[in-house]
Amino acid sequence: MSDLDKFKKRILITGGAGFIGSNLLHCMVPKYPDYLFVNLDKLTYAGNLSNLQAIEMAENYIFARGDIADNDLVSELFKVYQFDGLINLAAESHVDRSIMGSERFLRTNIMGTHNLLEISRKHSLFKKDFRFHQVSTDEVFGSLGNEGKFTESSCYLPNSPYAASKASADHFVRAYWKSYGLDVVTSNCSNNYGPYQFPEKIIPLMINNALKKEPLPVYGNGENVREWLFVKDHCKAIDLVFHKGQTGRTYNIGGDNEIKNIDLVKMLCRIMDDLTGESGHEKLIKFVEDRPGHDLRYAMDYSLIEKELGWKPEYEFKRGLMETVEWYLDNREWMEKCTSGEYKTYYNTWYKKRLEDK
Ligand SMILES: NC(=O)c1ccc[n+]([C@@H]2O[C@H](COP(=O)([O-])OP(=O)(O)OC[C@H]3O[C@@H](n4cnc5c(N)ncnc54)[C@H](O)[C@@H]3O)[C@@H](O)[C@H]2O)c1
Repeated sequence: MSDLDKFKKRILITGGAGFIGSNLLHCMVPKYPDYLFVNLDKLTYAGNLSNLQAIEMAENYIFARGDIADNDLVSELFKVYQFDGLINLAAESHVDRSIMGSERFLRTNIMGTHNLLEISRKHSLFKKDFRFHQVSTDEVFGSLGNEGKFTESSCYLPNSPYAASKASADHFVRAYWKSYGLDVVTSNCSNNYGPYQFPEKIIPLMINNALKKEPLPVYGNGENVREWLFVKDHCKAIDLVFHKGQTGRTYNIGGDNEIKNIDLVKMLCRIMDDLTGESGHEKLIKFVEDRPGHDLRYAMDYSLIEKELGWKPEYEFKRGLMETVEWYLDNREWMEKCTSGEYKTYYNTWYKKRLEDK
């Protein structure tokens, strides 16, 4: 019996050093001691091994650095570990960066996912129970008006290069099910918040800038609405969909917490006032030129996953947000590391002019 045979299942997690991936590994590695988790991550600016300190020594966890688009490397990993399943979280994930330049988004989100699918297809010819789980976003559906919610049968109408690349990857996932019978499931989730999120995204960005008493840049008039889900709720949903979702299905995952960006930022300012004992964070808010093609509103109807798999969000928004701010305040060194180096170039290129213009 080889060392690998002692594991009931061997799962490839891609993008496990990022925000959602690291939270997912924190949840699944201790929960399934009889599974082996192999985390394949390229460690781009958004990947951070220090996110995984709590589990890096676990016997059922292995890290492999590399690119999901690298055919030789991924094929070798499949050969060595004989995976029973794959959860694909690796992606270029930031809308603004995709507007600045979309080539990397095509390479990772589309070509990378295609590479994983093609290797999975060949592998599944003899590993019959192999499952491919694609982690996707609500942004593939485009923008809502003031009413209604996206359902699993809403049309894909992506508006940003990021959303277009995720939409394309989702279509390939479906095509590999329809054309080759690969066992696939896809989950489309609303905006996540929580620990380990790279500080280019709105919540940690505002916390970081507020801590440094720098302007809090809010796009347009701040009226755009997003629906928020605590990352741990998302991870529970991924676990359920991966294990119990029906082949070929897509599942919408949402948090029931719709809020305008400006109200979210004001809420964060109040929490910062309370937790730091310093008032006046709201005065730092600065409206800046809108993001091009900025979707007005997203909202997810998650009744399918609720009815079929018994999932619903558990975290109350205020509590989740409070815990999140506390985490960033307790982990300033982590934030400092993320925002030094390359981040500065991005921030200055994207926001500096916007902040100066107003
Ligand atoms: N954050 C959200 O609110 C949200 C909501 C819904 C869906 N999603 C999806 O969930 C997934 C994870 O999102 P996130 O917010 O954790 O992203 P993230 O940017 O924090 O992490 C992405 C991870 O993927 C890795 N990566 C990037 N390119 C790679 C490549 N070519 N090969 C291997 N690894 C690579 C990075 O190093 C990083 O660790 C993405 O697919 C995203 O589209 C995110």
